[in-house]
Amino acid sequence: MTTAEPTTGTVRKAVIPAAGYGTRFLPATKAQPKEMIPVVDRPAIQYVVEEAVAAGITDILIVTSTNKQTMENHFDRAPDLERTLEAKGKTDALDEIVRIADLATIHFIRQPEARGLGHAIGMGAAHVGDEPFAVLLPDDLMIDDGALLRRMISVAGDHPGAAVISVKEFPGAEVSAYGAADPIEIDGDVMKLRGIVEKPPPEEAPSQFGSTGRYVFPPEIFDEIARTKPGHGGEIQITDAMANLAAGAGLYAVSFVEGRYDVGQKLDYLRATVELGLAHPELGGQFADVLASIVAERGIGS
Ligand code: G1P
Repeated sequence: MTTAEPTTGTVRKAVIPAAGYGTRFLPATKAQPKEMIPVVDRPAIQYVVEEAVAAGITDILIVTSTNKQTMENHFDRAPDLERTLEAKGKTDALDEIVRIADLATIHFIRQPEARGLGHAIGMGAAHVGDEPFAVLLPDDLMIDDGALLRRMISVAGDHPGAAVISVKEFPGAEVSAYGAADPIEIDGDVMKLRGIVEKPPPEEAPSQFGSTGRYVFPPEIFDEIARTKPGHGGEIQITDAMANLAAGAGLYAVSFVEGRYDVGQKLDYLRATVELGLAHPELGGQFADVLASIVAERGIGS
């Protein structure tokens, strides 16, 4: 993935909640974090960190839980491996693993019990302090060189104190798997929201715009989270904390169409693997040939 020019936006910190069990991806996630499952040649979490960095983020707090230590190792230096690669003259691999450890300042904190996404984000309060920050859910890959997050940071800059979420239009009942946005004004790709409802039944969804895993929050969200009672599924939902902001400083959404893969879901994970495999600078050409021959041999699409 190439790194786009960083913006000079005011958001420098991000929180990545990565404490979930990954039950949608069992058995692969029985003994390894879902965030470490590779997509082509790098773990999913690396795409998310690289996206944040491309959007100008320099400080990242990853909220983890038990059995997630390999994620910490991935973003740390690895002196033995580095020495071995150096001795073997494998300089490209060496440069790449050193680059990963230097992407951003990365901190880790553990969420002691699974009390919901809102609670996990709330674990970042002391680290984030009194400044706006981004949240990236690592099940969602956004392959856009940070463009959506940069746009959201810029919209947040236009509305100080407001929260900005990302939304995508989902057909029919699909929207019920998301926080469904309730827009009052739409101006190009930006909408002002009256509120947002966590995973409503399809007939109660206020629109077909579902929130995806990117958020820009003012620090006031932490007070809202602290006040939020368990909601959908008995968990403290970030959606409920955000809905309260809508009545105050405001809640906005940036809509987008392309670039998202839900790699916490097996089918979309396969789509990500194929599309990112095809886009890979070294493997893409050969992989296209492999795919073309599989499609021809099996008569797929004919
Ligand atoms: C979470 C949020 C939901 C949001 C979704 C985006 O749900 O609770 O509001 O729309 O992420 O992917 P989850 O997918 O963790 O159940």
